[in-house]
Amino acid sequence: MRYLPARIALLAVVVSGTSPFTATAQDSETNPYTSRIDLRMGRRVFQAQCASCHGLNARGGNESVGPDLTTGRFQRAESDGELYRVIRDGVQGTAMVGTGTDAPEQELWQMVTYLRSLTEVADAPPGSSATGQQLFTGTGSCADCHMVNGDGGRRGPDLSNIGDDRTPDDLRTSLTDPDAEVHPRWWTMRATNGSQAHEGLRMGEDSFSFRIMDENEQLRSFSKYGDWTWERSERSTMPAYGDQLSTRQLDDLVAYLFSLRSDP
Ligand code: HEC
Ligand code: HEC
Repeated sequence: MRYLPARIALLAVVVSGTSPFTATAQDSETNPYTSRIDLRMGRRVFQAQCASCHGLNARGGNESVGPDLTTGRFQRAESDGELYRVIRDGVQGTAMVGTGTDAPEQELWQMVTYLRSLTEVADAPPGSSATGQQLFTGTGSCADCHMVNGDGGRRGPDLSNIGDDRTPDDLRTSLTDPDAEVHPRWWTMRATNGSQAHEGLRMGEDSFSFRIMDENEQLRSFSKYGDWTWERSERSTMPAYGDQLSTRQLDDLVAYLFSLRSDP
């Protein structure tokens, strides 16, 4: 019983090899690799293998041989399965040679995920990115912690290219629920000894000591075996803005963040 699916698959290969129909299993399959990480992997592979013809961000361009792949419509493919096959097998008689059948299935699907994400870009979020930018650097105080193109603070991640691999929904969640997904780089530590307390981003930690960066971007080191007691928190230091900002303001910020790209 266990071996049955493999036999059917083998049969399908034989049949498709001899049949006049070109449909393969991928046509009916749904893409199993669609997470955010898959998207990033797909982009990486694309930039390594496809950018020479389609441009670094798949937009084609004056000098490039390959067409813009971000228009939202493909000439040669409609379903994800067809797209998969174009990437693998190429387009006969053109410079689009394809990766060949040695390419790992996962990698091919990840490129499909990446290419699909580019067409979703067409659905720009509703807010005004200009108003969002004012809020970001002004009353919203986001720039106190975040750097954009060299300006701003260091207590949060640099957001210069955040629109490259976050969807508008991801960005909205970052603003309303910052604790949802906090990379260890942004965990905090708190050190106390009777009279004093220091708290800040966890810049380094081993069995004996740890370093923090406090709210003034000041670095401090502590021994774990001195007078200090310490605590680690895996929550975000970023305030949740769901209640502080109006829906309109959140829309504007999301539009601004989404516009921050390596190739605007
Ligand atoms: C040597 C240049 C070259 C390379 C490298 C290349 N392509 Fe292409 N690609 C082309 C050309 C030219 C076409 C247009 C073919 C045609 O006439 O439909 C094309 C077409 C496509 C299409 C179909 C577009 C449509 O509108 O249907 C997709 C999808 C695609 N390429 C993806 C990729 C991916 C993914 C890679 C990397 C694995 C890649 N290409 C590498 C030149 C290239
Ligand atoms: C007190 C410092 C601080 C302030 C103020 C702050 N942030 Fe953050 N922000 C952080 C930290 C730390 C993280 C990383 C941890 C996390 O994911 O929440 C973060 C994460 C983010 C992320 C997710 C980044 C990613 O890689 O997905 C976005 C987007 C963001 N902030 C936007 C904003 C905006 C917009 C504002 C202003 C309304 C703001 N931040 C205000 C500290 C701050």
